[in-house]
Amino acid sequence: MKITSDHFGVTSSGEEVQLFCLTNNQGMEVRITNYGGIITAINVPDRDGNLGDVVLGHETLEGYLNRSRYFGALIGRYANRIAHGRFCLNGITYSLAKNNGENHLHGGFKGFDKVVWSVREIPAADTACLQLTYLSKDGEEGYPGNLETIVTYLLTNGNELRIDYQATTDRDTIVNLTNHSYFNLAGSGTVLDHQVTINAETYTPVDKGLIPTGEIRSVRDTPLDFTSPTAIGARIRDYYEQLRLACGYDHNFVLRTGTQAFRNAATVYEPTTGRVLEVSTTQPGMQFYSGNFLDGSIVGKGDRVYVKHSGCCFETQHFPDSPNHPNFPSTVVKPNQEYRHTTSFKFSVA
Ligand code: GLA
Repeated sequence: MKITSDHFGVTSSGEEVQLFCLTNNQGMEVRITNYGGIITAINVPDRDGNLGDVVLGHETLEGYLNRSRYFGALIGRYANRIAHGRFCLNGITYSLAKNNGENHLHGGFKGFDKVVWSVREIPAADTACLQLTYLSKDGEEGYPGNLETIVTYLLTNGNELRIDYQATTDRDTIVNLTNHSYFNLAGSGTVLDHQVTINAETYTPVDKGLIPTGEIRSVRDTPLDFTSPTAIGARIRDYYEQLRLACGYDHNFVLRTGTQAFRNAATVYEPTTGRVLEVSTTQPGMQFYSGNFLDGSIVGKGDRVYVKHSGCCFETQHFPDSPNHPNFPSTVVKPNQEYRHTTSFKFSVA
């Protein structure tokens, strides 16, 4: 187990940014920068033991500053969309930044993905552990309350990357944190042949602005049924309204059991390399996004052109636009409470 660090660059406002490399006893490597808490690389073995990078991103800080689609980043204060950038809490209407048409997306114009986090290594016996903290001031991007956020990245010798999220506030507010890594277990090409299983019987259908309608709909007999392993590309071009609205998969799946128990949310298998990714979480939902907005205009690591479906995301989260849907699990956090969630990405081969 070891952690090394290097200078990664300087932001436009002159803040120093570092790049950390966490390595476990198996040789698995995770690179994380304190700019946006971004995971820039995850190197894991394939079935022949060859290490390969399984996430999209950039080699340089400049790439993340200028050409990113939330690659690998921490998302806050609210992951995904809030309709009209508006919500009501304790009788007060709050207006958030509208950075996605008329809606609010991923925390606003300068979300947690674009801030520099304080960072320290936490000594631990059999994990490599990095802790990032950020104080989001009352009113930032329109949100109430000073929000103190702590995100801990832990790499184990079992090739598991665990992310612990904690937040506390001094005023009632809403919180929904996630990580926006784009995975491609083959390390090249598209993810259309990746076989995905999602532990969800229902999902939250969306309107044309990708805002949930409020309905909780069964996945049965639809292209959103991933209850048994299915290639992402098998039905992605089916004539189905929800797929057309999102130009592919970009939907929140309601994970089985409404409790906060830590459990499996999704399993991904890539047939050519044998790589397997298991996603587990305490969160009630997961946005499965098939990289539909990648359009070849971004060139990433190793000069790879990121075309549509070059990567896919498993954004464990509370449901999009929850503050405007009383039937969705609440995202309200109060001063005497602590927001706490855990998500893990575990790699193996089959
Ligand atoms: C999430 C959203 C998508 C898109 C991506 C970023 O997955 O649900 O609609 O905004 O982030 O491009």
